[in-house]
Amino acid sequence: MELKIVGGDLAKAKTPCLILGVYDKHKLSAAAEAVDKASDGAIAKLLRKGDLDGGKGTLLAYDLPGISAERVLLLGLGKRKECDRDKLTKALGTALSRLGESRVTKALLALPAGLDDYAGVRAAALKAAESAYRYEQTKPPKEDAPPLLERFELWVEKPRRAAAERALAHAEAIGAGVALARELGNLPGNICTPTYLAERAVELAKAHEALSTEVLDEAAMAELGMGALLSVSRGSRQPAKLIKMSYQGGAADAKPVVLVGKGLTFDAGGISIKPASEMDEMKYDMAGGAGVFGAMVAAVRMGLPINLIGLVPASENLPDGDANKPGDVVTSLSGQTIEILNTDAEGRLILCDTLTYAERFEPDVVLDMATLTGACIIALGKHPSGLFTGDDKLAKEITAAGEAADDRVWRLPLWEDYQQQLDSNFADMANIGGREAGAVTAACFLSRFTKAYPWAHLDIAGTAWLKGKEKGATGRPVPLLSEFLIRRSGVETKD
Ligand code: BES
Ligand code: MN
Ligand code: ZN
Repeated sequence: MELKIVGGDLAKAKTPCLILGVYDKHKLSAAAEAVDKASDGAIAKLLRKGDLDGGKGTLLAYDLPGISAERVLLLGLGKRKECDRDKLTKALGTALSRLGESRVTKALLALPAGLDDYAGVRAAALKAAESAYRYEQTKPPKEDAPPLLERFELWVEKPRRAAAERALAHAEAIGAGVALARELGNLPGNICTPTYLAERAVELAKAHEALSTEVLDEAAMAELGMGALLSVSRGSRQPAKLIKMSYQGGAADAKPVVLVGKGLTFDAGGISIKPASEMDEMKYDMAGGAGVFGAMVAAVRMGLPINLIGLVPASENLPDGDANKPGDVVTSLSGQTIEILNTDAEGRLILCDTLTYAERFEPDVVLDMATLTGACIIALGKHPSGLFTGDDKLAKEITAAGEAADDRVWRLPLWEDYQQQLDSNFADMANIGGREAGAVTAACFLSRFTKAYPWAHLDIAGTAWLKGKEKGATGRPVPLLSEFLIRRSGVETKD
């Protein structure tokens, strides 16, 4: 999809559909007012009929006099005072599906005053870009399916053009990252295997000059001593891969940001097998890894002046004669031993060796993301991802990035008090901490492998995909990670 910033006289803009904001009580946005004037009050007259009372929903108008646009979509934005970025993007979602129903594939949005800055333009453009994603790989669209948006223009007033252009470029990059993460997430486990993920990473490096990929196979991991990671893949016929992507956008000697994402391409639970209901959703257990892929692509496309390394341990978790058994003890790359009391707590086993491996890159900071615990969904639901870190400053930084990117997190404790739940009589630690605070004890487990650098963990179990009619990967936390990287790299986003 094509995104573009435009200026000039809105009444003369040639577009299949001009989208104008309208507030409650028929109050027009400045742009709508200008167009209304040019059409001799036709918009105000339409609104007086009462269709958009309360300032919600949409109203499509054709053949307005004095207007070049083929149609005008009046978009309810609610109360003028309350109309913020969040309200705008929600309303825009309504407008975009209205466009689909009318089979309109090109549109021009006049951004309301106050929302035409970097943040407003990026949020609106990203929303439009996200609406143009549809999963098609194993289900081609029906002929009567609504067509996807092909071109989306944003009208902003002149003085802010520079910030708007940058916002648009960033939205394009983040949109591409989100789309990639969603596509990888949605692909079924029989297509999206560890080997498939590794191949996609190699392809990405071929497509983006600034990106390079290296894949460690099981022999290389055995050589290193990744006993925890390899114990999980032993129960699967698909060999594990440790995927490393790197992007050198910063100074040669600048320490890298390292992103680690759980790439469990299907989690049946292993010998501690999961119940059958909704087990298909465990194809999404690689969403953390997909988030790393997406964030790498976004950073490369934005050309951020930052050094970035993405690590994705990829494996399946299945029951098998050679699979982990409850009570087994394995030795991690760190040398610490782990008693596997539940083979379904496998994410932390593949992550812990990857987190130890990350040490060799002398990271500035390490962020890991994982669909790690059902307990995190019980604690927080599907709105925020869980954030765990002992570093208050880093917590603030990530929380702020999440707010700005509309991809929020909520911090949960990582107190020493919980660590004892991982005590084992047969190894340095157990891989589960009992029923209480399952998301916290999972994070506590990871924390034992991250002493060498500043670190934060995101549990994205509740946010990485949607259930029900809208079932599908969300692409989270790519927007959050992208914002975090933009801020870390010090790129200017103001005018
Ligand atoms: N991938 C799951 C976590 C998960 C479950 C994410 C449901 C999203 C929805 C993870 O590997 C897992 O099975 N965790 C266990 C841990 C338990 C055995 C301590 C869980 O949450 O039940
Ligand atoms: Mn599991
Ligand atoms: Zn899992």
